[in-house]
Amino acid sequence: MCGIVGYIGNQESSPILMEGLERLSYRGYDSAGVAVIGSDGKINVRKAKGRLENLENLLKEKTVYGTVGIGHTRWATHGEPSDLNAHPHTDVKGDIAVVHNGIIENHVSLRKQLEMNGAQFVSQTDTEVVAHLLNQLYEGDMKAALLKAMTMLEGSYALGVICTREPDVVYCARNDSPLVIGFKDGEGFIASDIPALLSHTRDVIFLKDKEIGVLDRSGVKVFDIYGNEQHHEPYHVEWDLSSAEKGGYAHYMLKEIHEQPEAIKKTFEPRYSGTPGDYSWLPLTVEEVKNLRKISIVACGTAYHAGVAGRYAIEKLARIPVEAAIASEYRYRDPIIGENELFIAVSQSGETADTLAALREAKRRGAKVMAVCNVVGSTIAREVGDENTLYTYAGPEIAVASTKAYTTQVELMMLIAVALGQMKGELASEKAQELLDQMHQMPALVEKALGTEEQLQKFTSIASHKKHVFFVGRGLDYALSLEAALKLKEVSYIFSEAYAAGELKHGPIALLQEGRLVVATITQTALLDKTLSNLREIKARGAWVVAVCRESLKEKVTPEADELILIPDTDDLLMPLLAVIPLQMFAYCMAVARGCDVDKPRNLAKSVTVE
Ligand code: AGP
Repeated sequence: MCGIVGYIGNQESSPILMEGLERLSYRGYDSAGVAVIGSDGKINVRKAKGRLENLENLLKEKTVYGTVGIGHTRWATHGEPSDLNAHPHTDVKGDIAVVHNGIIENHVSLRKQLEMNGAQFVSQTDTEVVAHLLNQLYEGDMKAALLKAMTMLEGSYALGVICTREPDVVYCARNDSPLVIGFKDGEGFIASDIPALLSHTRDVIFLKDKEIGVLDRSGVKVFDIYGNEQHHEPYHVEWDLSSAEKGGYAHYMLKEIHEQPEAIKKTFEPRYSGTPGDYSWLPLTVEEVKNLRKISIVACGTAYHAGVAGRYAIEKLARIPVEAAIASEYRYRDPIIGENELFIAVSQSGETADTLAALREAKRRGAKVMAVCNVVGSTIAREVGDENTLYTYAGPEIAVASTKAYTTQVELMMLIAVALGQMKGELASEKAQELLDQMHQMPALVEKALGTEEQLQKFTSIASHKKHVFFVGRGLDYALSLEAALKLKEVSYIFSEAYAAGELKHGPIALLQEGRLVVATITQTALLDKTLSNLREIKARGAWVVAVCRESLKEKVTPEADELILIPDTDDLLMPLLAVIPLQMFAYCMAVARGCDVDKPRNLAKSVTVE
């Protein structure tokens, strides 16, 4: 979604702002803009609809000079993508410029009030109210105006503000939308995401909700909503920019698919001592586990699919009832959850608005809350506390389509299942040892599964014209099919749907006909015979069956499939970690063959911070 950058220092700000915006472009956007305080003390604004190149061309034609500025990439919510609706927005005189991520929920009533007091609006955005509001509240101190404005603004926001009357300061504020402040000698940076400032500094502060940051050339100060100064321990970012660059791959998505062996290893190692029984990384006592009545795993999109896989594993190994729920539905259904229940929020970004809202609801109702999250310092991680956050160490995921975050989420789900199983006394330590040993081998097996790339490239060159693709499977293979269908539709725009293989004959089979492409995932040995009969039903309708199948089942599956994609063997429970590789690669190759914008699919944003 939208991205924010800001700079104060001694260098020209616009190249720094543009570089930051480029690094945030993976989040998805449809217009962009910058505002810079010039040497004449005026704010110069440049905005352009469409790609950053348009803004860059505009800046070449109409240069802006100055060492203090803010910038923004906008993903339209209120008002169409246009030059006018692009941020930054200013007050009537152009003395105050504002960039904003999030949604101001009471913008309609504020707008009426501001108009009555003389404000003239030029855009359809909710953000513009902030610029006019600050102007009307300003009495010689922007910090005071911002603090007052925050008591009047409802909704979510990360704000960057500059003002001609205080030309050597950048202000920022946050509520429910991430904002990070970076600093080094004489320079300050603000950004909605770390990659935007990482080429300048690795020392950052994460602003908390209802706090403001004041940056000048002497440093950074943070204040709470009452104006009290707050101390934040700086966080040193360990990963470097190369982790967030393509590194020779054609796309981030392909690079991130290939990073999975490493991501899996990094996520597993801190939780593995060699022998089962040490589950100190899990923030639950044996007593708490024994008393657990239910676990709710709540998330969106790909993270939800990891939760579905988690449900199968936890119920099997720990015999605790688990529900996997879509966060946007969960919050509004008056969920039944309370004491002696565990709520696990799963989120790559840690910023997804629906997941955050569901988490708050569960917390309010007395459940124990935990998070599986990839971003240190993110809102969800902070909301549950670091001690209750199980980090996936996938590294920065830039492609909008999630790949390595998914595998590490599933891996953590399997680890949680093993831990709960043993703590509850349902899983024998021999079986736990066997599973942990196999997880230890996983990076090498995933590497092997990546070898399917060539076969998939050839196959997709003939399959890419397909208009519909069905994914089927049973048990964990169904969980995986959900993810495979999402991946394909989001990057290749092909209509794809996942069905539990046994459910086909209850309706969807009506859609099967000569030449229809069906991708079947077949990794669950215990369900093999049932799945094979489903394949026969599919073949009998003339469909073209591609089977993603484990090596040990090759002989039995060969007669039922038109194409086999073989993956290495491991325990049934861990097979999703391997089978997902060719399914991700399939989506990637199809998108490339169709000439799609793989890393930034249309209409999508990396981190969905609105409900
Ligand atoms: C994944 O490919 C999607 N782009 C999307 O479904 C994503 O998983 C979802 O929006 C949840 O994001 P999160 O993990 O950052 O919470």
